[in-house]
Amino acid sequence: MHLTAVKKANEFIKEHLQEINPLYRHHFHLMGEVGWINDPNGFIYYQGEYHLFFQYYPYDSVWGPMHWGHAKSKDLTHWEALPVALAPSEEYDRGGCFSGSAIEKDGKLYLMYTGHVEEGDFRREVQCLAVSTDGVTFEKYAGNPVISEPHIANVAKIEEFRDPKVFKKEETYYCVVAAETFDKRGQILLFKSADLFDWSFVSVLLEGTKKQGVMWECPDLFHLDGKDVLIMSPIEYEREEHAYWNLNSTIAFIGEVNWETGKFAVENAHEIDYGLDFYAPQTCLGPNEERIMVAWMQMWKRKMPTHERNHGWAGAMTLPRELHVVDNCLVQSIPETFLKQLELQTVVENHSLDKEDYQANLVNTQQYLKIQLTLPEEGVVQINYAKSAKGYLALYYDAKKEQLTLSREQMGEALPGDELEILTKRTVPVQLKQNEFTLELIRDTTSIELITQDGQTMTMTFYEEKPGEGSLFEITGNAIINKIEVSEIK
Ligand code: FRU
Repeated sequence: MHLTAVKKANEFIKEHLQEINPLYRHHFHLMGEVGWINDPNGFIYYQGEYHLFFQYYPYDSVWGPMHWGHAKSKDLTHWEALPVALAPSEEYDRGGCFSGSAIEKDGKLYLMYTGHVEEGDFRREVQCLAVSTDGVTFEKYAGNPVISEPHIANVAKIEEFRDPKVFKKEETYYCVVAAETFDKRGQILLFKSADLFDWSFVSVLLEGTKKQGVMWECPDLFHLDGKDVLIMSPIEYEREEHAYWNLNSTIAFIGEVNWETGKFAVENAHEIDYGLDFYAPQTCLGPNEERIMVAWMQMWKRKMPTHERNHGWAGAMTLPRELHVVDNCLVQSIPETFLKQLELQTVVENHSLDKEDYQANLVNTQQYLKIQLTLPEEGVVQINYAKSAKGYLALYYDAKKEQLTLSREQMGEALPGDELEILTKRTVPVQLKQNEFTLELIRDTTSIELITQDGQTMTMTFYEEKPGEGSLFEITGNAIINKIEVSEIK
């Protein structure tokens, strides 16, 4: 049954490939070949390559019964599409194969995912396994589900219980799973197993307050730079100053797990990305034990231009990023394998904006920019990126307030969502360091990702009528341009 459902999806994709409108397609960000994608799933470095699965509905450019799409890459830049890995087919996952993760055991690739069923008032979410010997074709485990009602009696509701992230610690397998408390708060449950098949409940690892969202999704737990980090995606986290503005947010809890009690002691917490389009991040370990994170470059319930315009596809992944913990904060940087794909095109040096604004046709639809400025303590600077007669993206830095704002207000169509107001901009704190301000910018057709000098990020999509029509890079303010490096991606 499963292989028939997978075959049907793969045939549909092949038949409809030619109908995709390429106008807004990315070049180095992963997308589904046709149809809708959301969360990254099963991110793993397996047999010398990164494998990335994703929530996938190939049959339309809107969310539908979830399959798992699949792609692989050697360098996190060039992705090769692989056949669909999972499709709903069994009694326990007939409503969809929801998010989950991957792990290697005895040379085989295991996927742990949520079997979702929703029919009228009936809703059930259980944790399941599928296995592959070739890394391409997956067979569902005959003993599914492996975690279900008996494991969470009196702890959580089976209606909201999903997104297992599996990992091995010493000789034991663990997984963290998102759940809802009986009074509608988020909680993360910890389970353990000696063999990956037989699971027992360990603890409620962490639970949220009312303000911290009605449900937590897509948890991931890992040890990094001497700390334990728990990341997750809360639904409707309450706004705090400049943080958590989107309908659904992402958060990193930094602290320590007590493996005796199964409790997470939080030392610090902050939003993971300060943009408008970033959700459900998941991490894996690279070949040199580096921790790499990727997320869905979208937000739930926002207008999706590629769907509205019948382009036949919707959704993409962010650029994968390397993680570290510095001063109890999660910081992000561009992975080495991506940096190796850059080819330096242009360098701008030593230009004082006090004398003259700077303007040049530096913008391309695929590019990486590193902008290094010197500012006085009270300096302000504005960059208008991809400017044409029709609009621009605005990046505004205020050194006194120590804030960087990215706005798509002047760029393309409005993208309303389910927030109380239409969000067009967000702000991230950035400290000036000895008067220096350095910013990295990655652009791919309809997306921009900013990395600040503190390793905080802002991810946003934007839609020019015709990508590339805004080629102008403009910068004004009281600053000195030390250097702007503009690179292409090979
Ligand atoms: C997060 C999420 C997950 C769920 C999946 C369904 O974006 O809601 O909790 O498994 O998407 O597609």
